[in-house]
Amino acid sequence: MEPREAMENKNASLADLCAEFRANNQIPAEKFDLYNVKRGLRNPDGTGVMAGLTLICNVHGYLIDDGERVPDEGRLTYRGIDVRDIVEGCQRENRFGYEEVAWLLLFGKQPTRRQLDRFCSVLNAYRELPEYFAEDMIVKAPSRNIMNKLARSVLALYSYDDNPDDTSLENNMRQSMQLIARLPTIMTYAYQVKRRHFDKESMFFHPIDPSHSIAESILNAIRPDRQFTDDEAKLLDLCMMLHAEHGGGNNSTFAARVLSSTGTDIYSAIAAAIGSLKGPRHGGANHRVMTMMGDLMDHVDNWEDEGKVKDYLVKIVRREAGDHSGLIYGMGHAVYTISDPRAVILKEKARSMAQQRGLLRQFELFERVERLAPQVFAEVKGDSKVISANVDFYSGLVYECLGIPSDLYTPLFAISRIAGWCAHRIEEMETCGRIMRPAYRSLSHLRPYIPLDERTE
Ligand code: COA
Repeated sequence: MEPREAMENKNASLADLCAEFRANNQIPAEKFDLYNVKRGLRNPDGTGVMAGLTLICNVHGYLIDDGERVPDEGRLTYRGIDVRDIVEGCQRENRFGYEEVAWLLLFGKQPTRRQLDRFCSVLNAYRELPEYFAEDMIVKAPSRNIMNKLARSVLALYSYDDNPDDTSLENNMRQSMQLIARLPTIMTYAYQVKRRHFDKESMFFHPIDPSHSIAESILNAIRPDRQFTDDEAKLLDLCMMLHAEHGGGNNSTFAARVLSSTGTDIYSAIAAAIGSLKGPRHGGANHRVMTMMGDLMDHVDNWEDEGKVKDYLVKIVRREAGDHSGLIYGMGHAVYTISDPRAVILKEKARSMAQQRGLLRQFELFERVERLAPQVFAEVKGDSKVISANVDFYSGLVYECLGIPSDLYTPLFAISRIAGWCAHRIEEMETCGRIMRPAYRSLSHLRPYIPLDERTE
């Protein structure tokens, strides 16, 4: 513990430094318009700035009519196939689908049975981590946050790769398949270490069963008794399919593409993508939704009272409640307007799971918030933008019903999205061939250099 005086001095000097920063670093909002700067890489109508071409995925959320953005039902396609059809197809055939989605995203068409079987065996063979990796990279220097551990572990895999910097298609494919297979193992190991170190619970490392799908392997690793039902594993698999990919413009995929455009190694690109996904406006929102809803349940005495729920949402948007960010987590999207197709599917799953687990009252509260949030958004912000529940609104509730700990909500997003990130990295390297390098307009003016002794505070 530092002596009190030293601590006070540090805090005081930190406050001075921040005041210094604020005094010298103001950029008035109107300058962005003046210089036609696309804040957040958005056009004035909220659509994204066109940054590339892709064959991998399409995210549809609005129509353009006479140059105007018109809200529309959301549709998500992987390599041209509606994600709903993929999900329903796998359900009809009663089989796991995430591995098939990973193939589709990476290679560009649906795999034949033979191709899929071979792909699954390659993934199974890669699932174990390199020798001593767990001891040296996961058990040591534990992290409270599994996303942080995932990013660090992915960077560390560079040291265990004999050919890390080769950016040929063959090498990128090998590394991508290894990452898709290994990320879930890293996640479950990191979770055990976090439990032991920070939560003072027992760690357990069950052997990996090579016959398991990725979804089964996760439930196998996080349940002390290794017991789970086929329905539970298929539901987790469905969540993974829905999170596997979302176009080139989402922040984490764009980060992976930006880094890949420099020709850097895959581990650097994927670690950056994980860091991006961790943010609360991106994948970290699924965790924030559950915290927000917990907070709402604690502060609203009658969940059935729409007026009281609405008042609380108003407080959230006015930054008077919740985490004071002003955001109703799980609501709104950069592309989707009337609906996010992933949220529509997850909502139905959440409803039936909640029914089975006696959590229907909780589910109905989620539904109430989903209904009221757009009204509150419009009334408080005076914004005409059409918003609806996004993928993160119901995913946490589904995970909770599956008994999955909240530490894993965002990591589950990452271990699913790895397929999309890898597909986009490869597409960037194989089809683009230019370093991404946008411009920043400088607002500073030329000033003379002042010798140290002549400067004033
Ligand atoms: N709750 C409250 N305000 C919201 C909001 C929400 N869920 N979503 C957007 N807004 C507000 C923004 O704060 C911003 O207000 P400002 O103009 O006063 O700064 C305005 O609406 C426009 O937001 P912007 O960030 O430009 O919209 P976007 O379409 O780019 O945002 C998200 C997309 C997802 C980042 C945004 O809707 C959000 O932050 N949602 C909550 C976090 C979340 O669920 N993220 C997961 C995304 S899958």
